[in-house]
Amino acid sequence: MRTIAFYNLKGGVGKTTSTVNVAHIMATVHNKKVLVIDLDPQANTSKFFGFIKTDDAKNYDVGIDNLLKGDADIHEGIQKTAWTELDIIPSCLRLATVDRQLLTETTMPQQFILSSLLANVRDDYDYCIIDCSPALTISNTNALYACNDVIVPMLGDEYAKDGLTSILGEIKAIKKYNINLDFAFCFYTQWTNTLSSQNAYERVREMVGNKLLDIKIRRTTVVSETSQVIKDGVKTTQIPRIPLLEWAPQATATKDYLQLTKYIVEHYK
Ligand SMILES: Nc1ncnc2c1ncn2[C@@H]1O[C@H](COP(=O)(O)OP(=O)(O)O)[C@@H](O)[C@H]1O
Ligand SMILES: [Mg+2]
Repeated sequence: MRTIAFYNLKGGVGKTTSTVNVAHIMATVHNKKVLVIDLDPQANTSKFFGFIKTDDAKNYDVGIDNLLKGDADIHEGIQKTAWTELDIIPSCLRLATVDRQLLTETTMPQQFILSSLLANVRDDYDYCIIDCSPALTISNTNALYACNDVIVPMLGDEYAKDGLTSILGEIKAIKKYNINLDFAFCFYTQWTNTLSSQNAYERVREMVGNKLLDIKIRRTTVVSETSQVIKDGVKTTQIPRIPLLEWAPQATATKDYLQLTKYIVEHYK
């Protein structure tokens, strides 16, 4: 199993959109067995696949919050999605509390919980894709201790370069303890071909060379439609939503995600 984290300390850069669509394309186009892990307490990826756990409503019991606390076996936390090759360990708001509790836990090394959990399903999947939260949390540290490759989605703004510098520093520090860890590449999402985004692209290129992909995910309005599906004429966010390839197979962003996923399965086996 190859473990890949979509990571950026900035929110709104496309981590969740990339996790959902890359995982779906890996499973349906490339016939890979994929486990998605939602590590964001905002649980957008979980909701996308139809999983919710709040005080008022829940449709599953064991999630990543229980697993990181050591309350359950990883197999109890794996939920089936609508796609047979694609499973998920969902997240919920309680992950934020668990994260804080883990920080003060001193009876075990808190950074290694996720990697120990994943060791038990190593032979069950081709890929594990982790959707990280935009924060310096112990969950995210767990992701970096557990993964092989860090992929950084970015926006074409002036700040992307600074964010990248801190991520590269973090990877370098953690690589001492997880020798399998590498910065795979960064890529642009919500891309529009403006002069300022081209300038930003050139500056990141000078910084990381070919670790900046020339595959860019273009800004396309259908992407936000996939987070608000219309069922029986009513807009709803309650039902499982539809990945880009099924919702809008001809959209530019869909074509870009097909290209990106092909690149990943060819280069990160
Ligand atoms: N290629 C795209 N074109 C248009 N909108 C996009 C695109 N990618 C993401 N978005 C939108 O941008 C917002 C943030 O994306 P998201 O994947 O949730 O980011 P993150 O997980 O990094 O916070 C969402 O509303 C999403 O629908
Ligand atoms: Mg997200």
